[in-house]
Amino acid sequence: MGSDKFDHTGFATRAVHVGQDPDPTTGAVIPPLHATSTFVQFEFGKPGEYIYSRSANPTRTALERNLASLEGASHGIAFASGCAATDSVIRLLAPGAHVITSSDLYGGTYRLFEQVLRDFGIDFEYVETSDVATIQAAWRDETAMVYVETPTNPLMALTDIAAVAELTRERQVRLVVDNTFMSPYFQRPLELGAELVLHSTTKYINGHSDSIGGIVMTNDGADAERLRFIAKSVGAALSPFEAWLIQRGVKTLALRMERVDISARAVAEMLQQHPSVERVYYPGLPSHPQHELAKRQMHGFGGMVSFELADFDAVKRFLDAVQVCTLAESLGGVETLISHPASMTHASIPKAEREARGIKEGLTRISVGVEDLADLIADLEQALACV
Ligand SMILES: Cc1ncc(COP(=O)(O)O)c(C=O)c1O
Repeated sequence: MGSDKFDHTGFATRAVHVGQDPDPTTGAVIPPLHATSTFVQFEFGKPGEYIYSRSANPTRTALERNLASLEGASHGIAFASGCAATDSVIRLLAPGAHVITSSDLYGGTYRLFEQVLRDFGIDFEYVETSDVATIQAAWRDETAMVYVETPTNPLMALTDIAAVAELTRERQVRLVVDNTFMSPYFQRPLELGAELVLHSTTKYINGHSDSIGGIVMTNDGADAERLRFIAKSVGAALSPFEAWLIQRGVKTLALRMERVDISARAVAEMLQQHPSVERVYYPGLPSHPQHELAKRQMHGFGGMVSFELADFDAVKRFLDAVQVCTLAESLGGVETLISHPASMTHASIPKAEREARGIKEGLTRISVGVEDLADLIADLEQALACV
């Protein structure tokens, strides 16, 4: 994607500056939003760098450069949503391919795999990717990709990226990591050996719950070219307006991640000690079964905390009582969002399948925001008192 004078600066500096040169014509500090579908060709037969915005647009390019720099990638391809990014990554494969993936996955990813892409001849197999041996055991001649979320949504299970990358590299298949929960601030899977990283930028990268988007990043030029071609051909590219909003949001990614990490640790500790809470899932707790791996492969523990109450009725009483926390799907925004995976984000997974995966009726998920921690704790405590 070309070099930038900020390439060797720190994360927060790159988040603010890469791809963000002031506008040379007006001096505007913030690069303009190029809200245009097409670009004039000043001379017949000699189009400029940009031709048509479905293929490429300067506002989108600026964001792709910025996010690629944060993830340590040479290429970034921005999509209209996280799901569009996932869909395009799977389109790198041919019918007949077998994909080994995490048994705990965002419900929409599962729906895309099972209700759309399976019909095109891709076979998805769900295993506990936190155990490398189960990946090995599931391996077939047709295995063409390992696709993991780490930590998983919503059970916060980790996959050892470096260990799985060793396996996939040896067998010459792609390892794809959905890095949405950690953001590049806390985890950079390409540095650990993954070939492709994707994000729902809707979450932490944008951070303000006001846009939908996705991005795929890689150091593989051929995959990047193919993904760009797919995005252009199917029309899955991110709109310039959304790119501009996401760019504005990402400038504070480091600040926001630092803050949610501090608050989520405190929230997880409070929940762990609360008599109404049966179990807490947070990789920052020493009681998390993969706490050591979390310390090794992540630079923080993030803002996502899941926990179990006794049953559905307890969850209902709790969710109806919260006041500072907002009951809504999604995550990664400045406001604390709280949800019930079984009936909301993961409702598209059949009940029996969902329960077999450990997503019980009493499970609640919090995306800790940047509000005052004392207000969050007080709100959660008063809502738990209603349980
Ligand atoms: C981990 C994860 N990956 C992907 C997605 C899909 O992203 P989007 O909603 O931007 O399509 C989500 C959405 O919640 C998610 O949580």
